Amino acid sequence: MHWHATGNDRQMPWKGEKDPYKIWLSEIILQQTRVEQGWAYYEKFITHYPTVNLLAEAKDDEVFKHWEGLGYYSRCKNLLATARIIAGQFDGKFPNLYEDILQLKGIGPYTAAAIASFAFNLPYAVVDGNVYRVLARFFGITVPSDTTEGKKIFTSLAATCMDSKQPGQYNQAIMDFGATVCTPANPVCHNCPLKKKCVAFEKNIVATLPVKTKQLLKRNRWFTYFMIEWDGQLLVRKRTDKDIWQSLHDFFLDESSGEDAWDHKKVKQFLKTQLGFNTNVLGVSEVFVQKLTHQTIYARFIQVKAMVAFTPADGYFFHPGKKLNDLAFPKTITQFLHQASVQQTIF
Ligand code: ADE
Repeated sequence: MHWHATGNDRQMPWKGEKDPYKIWLSEIILQQTRVEQGWAYYEKFITHYPTVNLLAEAKDDEVFKHWEGLGYYSRCKNLLATARIIAGQFDGKFPNLYEDILQLKGIGPYTAAAIASFAFNLPYAVVDGNVYRVLARFFGITVPSDTTEGKKIFTSLAATCMDSKQPGQYNQAIMDFGATVCTPANPVCHNCPLKKKCVAFEKNIVATLPVKTKQLLKRNRWFTYFMIEWDGQLLVRKRTDKDIWQSLHDFFLDESSGEDAWDHKKVKQFLKTQLGFNTNVLGVSEVFVQKLTHQTIYARFIQVKAMVAFTPADGYFFHPGKKLNDLAFPKTITQFLHQASVQQTIF
């Protein structure tokens, strides 16, 4: 906290904020998102929805459009669900007890502790990846942080370390310390205010901590998107399956676990079998890659024109090709659309 108070307090729009709605919003945006990227989204949301009631009243699609590019859309769905619960069941007032905050959708122990301490000065220590790292190194803990035993040790240690008179300042200090000094790679040990007492520094094991047991296995998925146009309209759907990108839009999709070679003939045959009508193939794009936490998406876009009028299949609808910007799409698709419009290769 001394380190934080002496020239190391990074200025950010949500810092020192007392409105629990704004704190909550910033914390949801900052999950899985870097501060630099989250900042503009936070400003945008606060401008459009200055209160939780205004967010609760907003249309789903409009909010999703504002979230476009941030990823991990379940955050956005939960944000809306929780805003509506607060508006409907709590009279628009954010609950001020840790247990009540924790009941809300999309809010786990970390976010509940952040809100409770920043907004209400309640003594709950935040425990996230940053905190695991700082504590594991400082105390030289080699118990893996992703086990039940590890979680217990770190959670109780975090509570012990916290200054219970100033939980908000303590939590903000350890977050900033983990983000700028005790970083995952290349921590700034030579200039660290804790180095004299840091067990990992003394034993020269900083880089090995915290220990994790589980390795993330990534799945590769190959998406071929068929952008099918008829009379200036594109065939579009909103994704509803229990899968990535729920509530975002995309196009007619063929998925496989490896790369397929698509030439014009194969495209025509495939679409004739799938949809029952003939098409003219206009272009096959390069592959666009999007890395998610648990999977990597390889996407290719094939632009075709239908040769006859057709009725959209269940779940699909026509949308004017010139107004695609009105819809929220996953990042891979926005990237393709942007590149295609810059190169003027879109229809
Ligand atoms: N990451 C998550 N919450 C944060 C906060 N309040 N300040 C800085 N980084 C954060």
